[in-house]
Amino acid sequence: MTGSADVYRTSALSLLARCDELAAYSTLPHGLIRRVYLTEEHRAVNALAAGWMAEAGMTTWQDAAGNQCGRLEGSVPGLPALLLGSHLDTVPSAGRYDGILGVLTAIAVVDRIHAAGVPLPFALEVVAFGDEEGTRFGRALLGSRALAGTFDPTWLDLTDENGVTLREAYAAFGLDAATIGDAARRPHSLVGYLEAHIEQGPYLEEASRPLGIVSSIAGARRFAITVNGHAGHSGTPFDRRRDALAGASEIVTMIEQTARGAGLIATVGHLEVFPNAVNVIPGRVELSLDLRAEHDDERDRVWSAITDSITSICETRGLTFDVHETHNAPAVACSPKLREAISAGITATAGDDEPMLLLSRAGHDGMAVADLTEIAMLFIRCRGGVSHHPDEHVEASDVAVATDAFELAVLALAARIPLAVDPALVEQ
Ligand code: GLV
Ligand code: MN
Ligand code: MN
Repeated sequence: MTGSADVYRTSALSLLARCDELAAYSTLPHGLIRRVYLTEEHRAVNALAAGWMAEAGMTTWQDAAGNQCGRLEGSVPGLPALLLGSHLDTVPSAGRYDGILGVLTAIAVVDRIHAAGVPLPFALEVVAFGDEEGTRFGRALLGSRALAGTFDPTWLDLTDENGVTLREAYAAFGLDAATIGDAARRPHSLVGYLEAHIEQGPYLEEASRPLGIVSSIAGARRFAITVNGHAGHSGTPFDRRRDALAGASEIVTMIEQTARGAGLIATVGHLEVFPNAVNVIPGRVELSLDLRAEHDDERDRVWSAITDSITSICETRGLTFDVHETHNAPAVACSPKLREAISAGITATAGDDEPMLLLSRAGHDGMAVADLTEIAMLFIRCRGGVSHHPDEHVEASDVAVATDAFELAVLALAARIPLAVDPALVEQ
């Protein structure tokens, strides 16, 4: 590849060592990882990433939403930027690569290009997003929505499990919620967005290929569903009960059957039972639903079938329910031009003439960034397709070829744009 003044710094082993270093910043004991938005752990990993960005030749800053950013100028200062990035936050009991590996791959690629002194017809920027998973406030993509300029100020009233509002969390992090709009980037200041990410699925491994290209990212909707019954003594006869948990259980299996039948994906991953006592009939149950499909219309049709079935289950059991939508991200198609660049990178490095195209069933920051600029993604094989679990694993040899391919994708894109500077493109 372009070569580096410090080859170790951009090698697969150093990337994996950095993933290990970041994994230590967690709110969970016993080596488990949970790192969420606007916490001391978030502050610490931003500082580490900023240091690595600076070593890679970038000027660095933390934006108004707590995303850690770095910039390497192109052939002249002020050119529109190609954004490279992913996220540093995690789900509870996470693996150490989802999002994190993409940030570190991006920094390594900039390091190599900087060390080789390659003049590019665009600036390179790395963004380490602060919130992709939505673990703390129940709403995903807060960091990337802020960058895309689609942050909704009503979200500032969202609360975490301790009742802290997003507005208060910004203040505690040293940020002013009133200036979140400053994180928004202007479309004309960007060339596009590329993200490298572990596949979080089994298909590359099954096909014995280290790398693939994302065709599109599935559209997702998330709901908080409350089922209301009546709490009472566990000695109450069945025909006198309005058991919210029995109803919720029927709803969970109905959701699985409905989604399976329609060929899409649905997950009930969170459930709370009230009052949650061994000898009390459950009076209320709160459950989450995460629904994903390649096409938004089929996803919405299935949601409407699910709501019809919830209505009839609740009617039969004398229950009521209410629903609150917590997340809605339309499906996003990746840009053919940027996909071509990634394909060129894979072909040149992994020796794969026809790289595999994959639908991403997982959500990514690119879904938000797509409102601003074209996006594309490189997928890296992960063991067993396992993700959102401590067993998440990538091979160093796959990380090595991914870093090379990602670098070549950037250079392939650069080769399509003349170096001669159009002054109209220079940001004022
Ligand atoms: C993020 O990983 C998501 O797909 O929910
Ligand atoms: Mn994730
Ligand atoms: Mn991710």
